[in-house]
Amino acid sequence: MKRANLREMIPVKYLYLQTMGCQMNVSDSEKIAALLQRIGYELTDDQRRADLILLNTCSVRARAEEKVYAHLANYVGMKRKKPGLLLGVGGCVAQQEGERLLDRVPHLDLVFGTHNLHRLPQIVLAAEEGRRLAEVDFIDNDTRVNLFPVDDRPGGVTRFVTVMQGCDNYCSYCIVPYVRGREVSRRAGEIVAEIRQMAEHGVREITLLGQNVNSYGAKSPDEPDFAGLLRMVSQIPGIERFRFTTSHPKDFNRALIQCFAELPKLCSHMHLPAQSGSDAVLAGMNRGYTREHYLSMVTELKQARPDIAITGDMIVGFPGETAEDFAQTLSLMDEVGYADLFSFMYSPRPGTLAAGLSEELSYEEKRERLELLQDIQRKGTRRQNEALVGTIDEVLVEGVSKRGDQLYGRTSGNRVVNFAGDPALIGTMVDVCMTKGYQNSLLGTLAVDSEAA
Ligand code: SAH
Ligand code: SF4
Ligand code: F3S
Repeated sequence: MKRANLREMIPVKYLYLQTMGCQMNVSDSEKIAALLQRIGYELTDDQRRADLILLNTCSVRARAEEKVYAHLANYVGMKRKKPGLLLGVGGCVAQQEGERLLDRVPHLDLVFGTHNLHRLPQIVLAAEEGRRLAEVDFIDNDTRVNLFPVDDRPGGVTRFVTVMQGCDNYCSYCIVPYVRGREVSRRAGEIVAEIRQMAEHGVREITLLGQNVNSYGAKSPDEPDFAGLLRMVSQIPGIERFRFTTSHPKDFNRALIQCFAELPKLCSHMHLPAQSGSDAVLAGMNRGYTREHYLSMVTELKQARPDIAITGDMIVGFPGETAEDFAQTLSLMDEVGYADLFSFMYSPRPGTLAAGLSEELSYEEKRERLELLQDIQRKGTRRQNEALVGTIDEVLVEGVSKRGDQLYGRTSGNRVVNFAGDPALIGTMVDVCMTKGYQNSLLGTLAVDSEAA
């Protein structure tokens, strides 16, 4: 009630928020929207209406970074036509570039780094008064643990919950440790309290989020480890399912595998990026595990949860990757049988260890490898979806499909299913019989309907 009165006094301003990059950024964007709502900004998906345009950016590959500069150039005209329109950049490119962004882009009003989300309302208020700010200072872990912003807006069936941030792994190709800073785990009590509140507001599934969730609690003697946290989350009333991402194979352990055997609410889905199937390349990448270790984890996971859907990330064309190394990657894919795979061409990033290595492969050779790999995976994914036809699986109904004539939801294995049904089912678990498998989704019918027919 109090909040509503306060909101009535502040004129509504519109925020257009564009998110690039990983789920961490998607989750940060939710927090940004929640933080800026407190100073009167409502989200809009129409840029022309916006009073503030924010780009939440990614710098994981060179192309992602170039896209940001290209995007920013598009707003020159718009800012000229609409004086007072504010333009800001946050996320990983902002962290990497800092003040340089303000120098390079004269029509840019504000820049905020990955540790500075909690300061955004003040930064925006300053920009409204004509001050151009770039706040990108990293904050030490002892302070940061008290500064995890949350998206406390009610709503949604599935939600992200950040459990840790940052990364200490320094994979030799990766910019993330430089733009996200050191690993810091959130207090378990706060995580559980946030999820409890979400459950009270109708949320049914949560995804625990971190760059490397397996090392949750590793630096905090008073907190449980990740397996302990999963056990706490599985007790929260109202939460029907939970999943987590991302896991690092070097920290993936038996205690976690045991969770898949013992916790029925833990989804049958594991995102376990291998990055390569060759020991020589894995060593060059500083990944800290071998092909054999990775495959043994997968075997144990499948034993603990036979229907588990395994997804991953793969990089092709890392410096020194031979044809034999690449063949090893393809054979690892064959052994694992990924449900889905995110694959990328190696892209040297400034400041990383691998950026100093010479690349022997041309762009065309890298692209050829990537296309071959993606073609194999596309066929594998489709085959798995087709093989599910005739099976019945539980689907958490998330909403009405874009076309408006069907409901959609996901299985425990994270497969998207479309089916006809009453929108009143949104937020409930239903049994769906799969009738057709496509590349990226399945078609189904409600199992009660098909039994009645
Ligand atoms: N923390 C997660 C995700 C990191 S970034 C993890 O460790 O798995 C997401 C993916 O981008 C990585 O898994 C990797 O496959 C890819 N990636 C990271 N740096 C890259 C680079 N320099 N070139 C190409 N792909 C890269
Ligand atoms: Fe990057 Fe490796 Fe950390 Fe993942 S684990 S964010 S790939 S450094
Ligand atoms: Fe990109 Fe930053 Fe995520 S670099 S992949 S948005 S952590």
